[in-house]
Amino acid sequence: MSSPRRTPPPRTPILHSVKVVIARTLPAAGLDRLRARFDVQSGGLPFDRDWLLEHAPGASAIVADPTVPVDGELLDLAGDGLKVVANFAVGFDNIDTDAVRERGLRATNTPDVLTNATAELAVALMLATGRRIVETDQIFRRGEWAGWEPEQFLGRELSGATVGLVGFGRIGQRVAALLSGFEARIVFSDAHAMDEAAAKHGARRMALAELLEASDYVSLHVNLTRETRHMIDADALARCKPGSILVNTCRGGVVDTAALVDALRDGPLAGAGLDVYENEPAVPEALAALPNTVLVPHVGSATRSTRDAMAELCADNVIAVLGGGEPLTPVV
Ligand code: 8YV
Repeated sequence: MSSPRRTPPPRTPILHSVKVVIARTLPAAGLDRLRARFDVQSGGLPFDRDWLLEHAPGASAIVADPTVPVDGELLDLAGDGLKVVANFAVGFDNIDTDAVRERGLRATNTPDVLTNATAELAVALMLATGRRIVETDQIFRRGEWAGWEPEQFLGRELSGATVGLVGFGRIGQRVAALLSGFEARIVFSDAHAMDEAAAKHGARRMALAELLEASDYVSLHVNLTRETRHMIDADALARCKPGSILVNTCRGGVVDTAALVDALRDGPLAGAGLDVYENEPAVPEALAALPNTVLVPHVGSATRSTRDAMAELCADNVIAVLGGGEPLTPVV
């Protein structure tokens, strides 16, 4: 697996009178497919809920993304013609799936095409945090480096480390595959057994508590749900191996930020590499003040080829449902 699979546009009837409302915007790879078929109205950036509520009535499809809450109020405003909510993301915690289901609608996401990009970022955060890349870059740029010293800026290696993957779905498994070159020992926790995947990657299944105790690096790859919200709380963090590193590329809400700050200040964590936050886009000041964090702004899927493939898949889900077919990648 390298670049995500790109797809040719589907052959479906052109329905220019059908309204598709894009809450914000979509890369041209998907936008052009929709514009060629439908009456597309898009809110642009930044997200404006009032614009969305004003334009929703009469929509057959709504295109959303993780910054766009999709709730019963919006679905009801859209009215009886609404058939599908297509998310431009694999995560869909922004969508009230019960509300979608209750109204007999469909909801879709964009899995697979962003698996590699997100897994690569998780590995990048492991290396950047473990080898103190950002902290030392800043010291160097500030002109504070007085020269090489034998025991300066010591980090930890990924090779031979025990890496605990919390969630062993598509992205977790891709991280395991990428780490094979590092000869890391892979352990995972997952609600499902995942026997075949475990055998393929030589990974050992553990309960979460055991995984946290055993792992030098813990990387999170679960959906944000009622069950996973604050799954990594003060108790979980207290179990982490002293000197270990936490990486989060799934959703900020999986980790209790205040507890994470304590675990980074007072131990047991040596560092954290984060792509996602509890209250995006707010910068968590307490985390930003710590030298042992690497903080990037939700860029897991941010490569040209991946965002284009996500946009195509998102658009193709709309085209499939409005053409009377089954969604390609449904979540409801
Ligand atoms: C970004 C993601 O949110 O797919 C997800 O769930 O978190 C990322 O891909 C997405 O690119 C923003 O639309």
